[in-house]
Amino acid sequence: MTSPVTATVRDTPSVPVVVGVLGGGRMGAGIAHAFLLAGACVHVVERDAETAAQARGRVEAALARSAARGTRLPDADALTTSVDTGAFAEADLVVEAVPEDRALKLGALARIEGAVRDDAVVASNTSSISIDALAGAMRRPQRFLGLHFFNPVPASALVEVVTGADTAPEVVTRATRWVEAIGKAAVVVRDAPGFASSRLGVALGLEAIRMLEEGVASAQDIDTAMERGYRHPMGPLRTTDIVGLDVRLGIAEELERAFGARFTPPALLRDLVAQGHLGRKTGRGFYEWSE
Ligand SMILES: NC(=O)c1ccc[n+]([C@@H]2O[C@H](COP(=O)([O-])OP(=O)(O)OC[C@H]3O[C@@H](n4cnc5c(N)ncnc54)[C@H](O)[C@@H]3O)[C@@H](O)[C@H]2O)c1
Repeated sequence: MTSPVTATVRDTPSVPVVVGVLGGGRMGAGIAHAFLLAGACVHVVERDAETAAQARGRVEAALARSAARGTRLPDADALTTSVDTGAFAEADLVVEAVPEDRALKLGALARIEGAVRDDAVVASNTSSISIDALAGAMRRPQRFLGLHFFNPVPASALVEVVTGADTAPEVVTRATRWVEAIGKAAVVVRDAPGFASSRLGVALGLEAIRMLEEGVASAQDIDTAMERGYRHPMGPLRTTDIVGLDVRLGIAEELERAFGARFTPPALLRDLVAQGHLGRKTGRGFYEWSE
């Protein structure tokens, strides 16, 4: 039988009261939106006034879409956008979501650490940079971890909680509960190239491309095999088209450096990227895409 205490903990997932987001682009705006809907106050900090205004526009557009679906919106003053990391002073959690550039992220994390309370949790939304490499330059690596959100954040159901060598277990527990509090499943993954999702997803995608190269089956039949045979919601080639062939190639090259030949990108992937066929965003990848 469940004890009353356990039941209470499970029934009342705690939302951080104040959340900071550095970088209010595609992912940062989505992360802000998710915590706002869960009842947190969210401060988005951008690099200049123009991008701060754009970030506000993105979050407000996402909130308007939620309202149209009948979701109750937070108070208007629950969201602030600015260019001042001083806004993070009271934050329980700050998520770094600036572009995927190691030097940029190191600078961003130093700015965040300089602004937050000692007990705040700091997270990076990096999709490929090692959490330990980022933690190496931090003063409080025990308060730092990866929170790998998926794109688009409102429609995604998963966040990878990526633990560095120094991340405190209590920080992992807290972050996991916060992820659950915004209605997403959390999986805890040790810091390793590609975490869990990209490594497995890219492995399947690369093998599907090799099968296409070898003439084993058509793109449609390879995808249908996984969709109908294994109940994947979408086959690996269609998924690659939607993610972007260039994005997948970049991840494969990185995984090849870490794990060797099993992640060597197939020539067909390189050729399509070189020809500018990047998938849905350019109208052609393994499939033809129209509006
Ligand atoms: N887009 C995806 O599919 C996806 C999925 C998972 C994780 N990620 C990761 O999320 C992070 C952000 O990606 P994105 O797609 O949202 O990028 P994006 O380019 O849409 O947004 C980045 C934002 O950061 C801002 N920015 C740049 N420098 C800044 C600075 N010094 N201080 C404050 N803000 C700054 C930019 O103005 C921009 O609004 C990256 O690490 C990326 O790898 C992306």
